[in-house]
Amino acid sequence: MKKLIAGNWKMNGTIDGARALIADIINGLHDRDEILAACDFLVCPPYVHLNAVKHSLHTVDYIALGAQSCSRWENGAHTGGVSAEMLKDLDCTYVILGHSERRQGVGETSAIVQEKALRAFEQGLKAIICVGESEEERERGKEEHVVGYQLASSIPPGAKAEDLIIAYEPVWAIGTGKTASAEDVKTMHAFIRESLSKIVENPQEVRILYGGSMKPENAAELLATPNVDGGLIGGASLNAEDFIGIGQAALA
Ligand code: PGA
Repeated sequence: MKKLIAGNWKMNGTIDGARALIADIINGLHDRDEILAACDFLVCPPYVHLNAVKHSLHTVDYIALGAQSCSRWENGAHTGGVSAEMLKDLDCTYVILGHSERRQGVGETSAIVQEKALRAFEQGLKAIICVGESEEERERGKEEHVVGYQLASSIPPGAKAEDLIIAYEPVWAIGTGKTASAEDVKTMHAFIRESLSKIVENPQEVRILYGGSMKPENAAELLATPNVDGGLIGGASLNAEDFIGIGQAALA
C-alpha cells in the first residue's frame, strides 16, 4: 500500500502564505518520481484557504486537497457551517474528522464524528477519522480501551475500507515534540487493525496513519513500523522541505 503523507495546516497563515506553501510543495515534488511512487500526498488547509490552494493545484495530479472538518448536517440553515457538499464543490477528496483539538476544544463527540463521516461518505469524500488517548489515559493503561471505543463509535456502520482512513494521534504527542515510541505505535496500530476487523470488511485495506510530532528525523522509523500506512503531520507540514522530507523518509 502507498503511504499517505497528509498535511494538517490547522488554523495558520494567510491566503498568500497558503499559495506560497503549496507552490513550494508542488515544485519540491514535481520531479521526485521515486517519492511519488511510494507516497500519496494530501494537504488540508483552513476552509478559507481551500479555494486558493485548489487553484494552485489545478494542473497538479500528485497532491490531493482536503479539509480539516465538515458539518454534521447537509446544506441548510446552519450559520457558520461548511458542508461536505461544499467541500466536494471545492475539489476536496478528503476530510479530517474528530481531531483531538476538536474533540477536546469544541466538544466533538464520537457520535458527532460518526454523523460527519456519513455526510462525507454521501459526497464521495474519504474520511480521516482521528483517535488517540490522553497522557493521563495512557498512564492509567487505558489507551486501547479509549481508542477501541472511539473507533467503534466514530466509524459509521457500513463504512467502506477505501473511504476510511484512521489517524492514531496520541494527544500528548501532538505539537509537543514528544513522539510515541515505535514499539508503542506498533502495538497500537496492530490493535487498531484488529479492532477494524470487527467494524469494516477488508480491514487490511484501511490506511492507518500515525500523527504527533512527526518530522523528517523520526519519520523513517515510524513509517517503517508495521501497520503504519502514512502520517498526519501538523507543524512539519507548514514547511515544504520538512513535509517532502517525511515522504522521502518513507523510502528509507
Ligand atoms: P503535530 O500535529 O505534527 O504538530 O504534532 C499533528 C496533528 O495534530 O495532526
